[in-house]
Amino acid sequence: MEFKALNVLPKTFQYRGSQLSHLLLSLSKGAVYLNKAPELILSLIRLWLNWKVRRHRCQNIYHKAQKRGRWEKRGNNIRDYKGTQDSACRFSFGKARRRSGIFSGGISSLRKSTQLKAFAELAPPPPSQSSLTVYYFPGSVKVRPVVLCRSSTQPSQQANGRSRISNNVQMDLYLKQEFTSFTGSFKERGARNALLCLTPEQRKAGVVAASAGNHAQGLSYHGQSLGIPVKVVMPVIAPLMKIQKCKDFGADVVVEGNDMFGATQVALDDSRSSGRVFINAFDNVRVMAGQGTIGLEILDQLPNVDAVVIPIGGGGLIAGISTAIKARKPDTLIIGVESEMCPSFNEAQIKGKPVLVPTSRSLADGLAVPQVGIHSFSNATNKIDRMVIVKEDSIALAILALVEKEKSVVEGAGAVSMAAILSGQLDLLKGKRVVLVISGGNIDTTVLSRALHKGMAIDGRLLKVGVVVDDRPGCIAELCQVFSELQVNMRHLMHERAWVKADVFSVKVSVICESRSREHSLNLIAALQNKYDHVVLGEFPDPTTL
Ligand SMILES: Cc1ncc(COP(=O)(O)O)c(C=O)c1O
Repeated sequence: MEFKALNVLPKTFQYRGSQLSHLLLSLSKGAVYLNKAPELILSLIRLWLNWKVRRHRCQNIYHKAQKRGRWEKRGNNIRDYKGTQDSACRFSFGKARRRSGIFSGGISSLRKSTQLKAFAELAPPPPSQSSLTVYYFPGSVKVRPVVLCRSSTQPSQQANGRSRISNNVQMDLYLKQEFTSFTGSFKERGARNALLCLTPEQRKAGVVAASAGNHAQGLSYHGQSLGIPVKVVMPVIAPLMKIQKCKDFGADVVVEGNDMFGATQVALDDSRSSGRVFINAFDNVRVMAGQGTIGLEILDQLPNVDAVVIPIGGGGLIAGISTAIKARKPDTLIIGVESEMCPSFNEAQIKGKPVLVPTSRSLADGLAVPQVGIHSFSNATNKIDRMVIVKEDSIALAILALVEKEKSVVEGAGAVSMAAILSGQLDLLKGKRVVLVISGGNIDTTVLSRALHKGMAIDGRLLKVGVVVDDRPGCIAELCQVFSELQVNMRHLMHERAWVKADVFSVKVSVICESRSREHSLNLIAALQNKYDHVVLGEFPDPTTL
């Protein structure tokens, strides 16, 4: 019986290193093992050899990753090795040992992520003598000048550059107008920096990226200007306008993948087979450093800023800006804003590591990143003082406010910082100097039109009202008279008789109309209720629920 058990031991050791405990248990069984000392020694040698082989295999993976220095996919997790080689290799080693996903390492994986390490201190910006501000980072970043809230460059604006919305919210608001860059968003800063950091061989091989729009455009445009071949994989949901723009910038555009995950897979496969360098849109330190130039510009243009409000998608933008600002002016409040349709950063903060969250369609499509980056998360999380989640209605209202009051066309993702202010979630900033990063302006005309109408409805200026009047000549004219006296514009008018409950001698008139303000709409409703018994109000949103 005991002899049989001894025979089993070596085989077990050979395949399962964890059987050490089994061995110890067996030893406790007594003298028979001592009699079989040679077999026992043999078993121990096998155990040791087995451990050596496994260790060697792990190191192999480590060295391969170091050599390749590019994206890898294991299990369901995708990671960027480019630009973060050292830490990524350490990830790889750790992962091979643990045979688990990147995030199962949790806090320890986060600790190993590459930190921007106050790059702003390493490279303080030179004083800007001309309108062209050029910042130097390790790897030499040159960025297009982006004007902070127009100030002296646009004489028609208030002299100190304050936003016109400032008085409505009792704050000194300044808009960092990233939508004025050539490709319409901040993304070209990070894209250009990542391109400038490539070695001559990598430049020759070219780059590949997955993006639904802004990163792809930034990379295509700067790739063309630097003579670096660019391939972009865009998911089928990418707006046609953005696809066309990338083609116009000379990029090789592939439309594949149902969503960003699908497109990323295709781009990674391409990078592996073609040798092109994969450039992640947010989880790459060089990209983050490029976005960080916004922070340096803000401090340059408004040195006494109290708070900066920043949209969050994958987290690259806030990681760069917060690193730059906290390094030079640590008392500045950093506020991150997400859409309620994809609160992935908020969820990551709750869980202490990036996690996958379900997403829904949003006006802020640029922020729809279901899992934030591990490097961007670890760089930003302890620099963020407050997180805000905004609703779709607030985003629509912010787009409308920016068009009407600032004469600025901004996309949903670019408007979320304004939405955070207008929704009243940042009233703690009253009386302070606040910079809102308005990160992009690439919005489809049809989406813009819908957003404006939605914004007007939320603001109580576009309303639907149903009135039951007598079905005889002149009654509808009388109804129109009420609208006319109050100077409310009727846009659509519809009669219905079959469903009117009152009697067969009545008609229900449904009107969609435009007023000047919420108060103006309330006056109309009061006048109608005064004159008619049946007045049905369509949805009239309550501003306190935003
Ligand atoms: C206009 C706009 N704003 C903000 C973001 C969020 O940037 P990040 O993914 O670096 O957090 C994006 C991302 O694509 C964007 O397109």
